Amino acid sequence: MGRTNSGSRGGGRHTGPAVRAGDATRGDAGPPPVIQIRRVTKSYGLGDATVHALRGPSDPVTGEPLGVTLDIEQGDFVAVMGSSGSGKSTLMNILGCLDVPTGGRYLLDGTDVGHLDEGQLSLVRNRKIGFIFQSFNLVPRTTALAQVELPLAYAGARSAERRRRALAALSLVGLADRSGHKPNELSGGQQQRVAVARALVTAPAMLLADEPTGNLDSRSTEEVLGIIDGLNAIGRTVVLITHEDEVARHAKRVIRLVDGAIVSDVRQGPVAGPPPAIRPELVGGRS
Ligand SMILES: Nc1ncnc2c1ncn2[C@@H]1O[C@H](COP(=O)(O)OP(=O)(O)OP(=O)(O)O)[C@@H](O)[C@H]1O
Ligand SMILES: [Mg+2]
Repeated sequence: MGRTNSGSRGGGRHTGPAVRAGDATRGDAGPPPVIQIRRVTKSYGLGDATVHALRGPSDPVTGEPLGVTLDIEQGDFVAVMGSSGSGKSTLMNILGCLDVPTGGRYLLDGTDVGHLDEGQLSLVRNRKIGFIFQSFNLVPRTTALAQVELPLAYAGARSAERRRRALAALSLVGLADRSGHKPNELSGGQQQRVAVARALVTAPAMLLADEPTGNLDSRSTEEVLGIIDGLNAIGRTVVLITHEDEVARHAKRVIRLVDGAIVSDVRQGPVAGPPPAIRPELVGGRS
């Protein structure tokens, strides 16, 4: 059955730079993986109607689901692929603490999230994770600037600070001149770039993106992926769900799910170092 991620850290097998941005103290062992999931299962329904959305390999003796086990290193860029219904969104919802597993453990940045209550989980989501969805999920009739300020408002930042940081995030995605525009005054690609700015404004350790380019034309897709490449290049961990090989080409590692189990796990580039498809002019921001 599927190879899991043990040993993906590289242990010196990769030739990328040994020290990454923001991580000058990284030793040979490196920091612990930002994501550690152990034998995680998720099922819906009961009895004969049970759907094992995440099941992992089956126990060879009993046939019981053994669950999904997966580590993701800080700074990695992981694409999760698989056909419709294979469990991609289920996995992402668990990784993002939007849903809880039926079985198994999930350690995020060393914290066992299974032990947190709803209030603590929402703090974790706000502080550690930036979400990007296929349907943008912007607030209607609200300017780009106000959308991007929102997560900072939840985090308790003051108004001047919110404005400054939201404008910086909008500049990073190339939309400084659209900060007063509402969603219906922006193209699809621009709306998704606002959503990317909103996801990154709190400087989360991890970006989770579920089909972020699923509703975009090819030009906007390249723009959004270029921004995500740039964010990964400066040290953000990215987990991105996609159906498309063209999108997965940007990732350092590609995991494929079939029927709720990992069936392949391929490294396309070292964790340390820039993502494989990055365009150099996009590193460090856009004009
Ligand atoms: N709330 C739910 N109740 C019952 N079954 C569910 C629920 N959510 C998901 N499932 C089932 O779990 C399985 C995995 O769903 P999931 O949404 O993770 O698939 P996916 O890989 O993201 O698919 P897609 O590419 O279509 O988005 C599917 O068979 C789905 O029908
Ligand atoms: Mg899905």
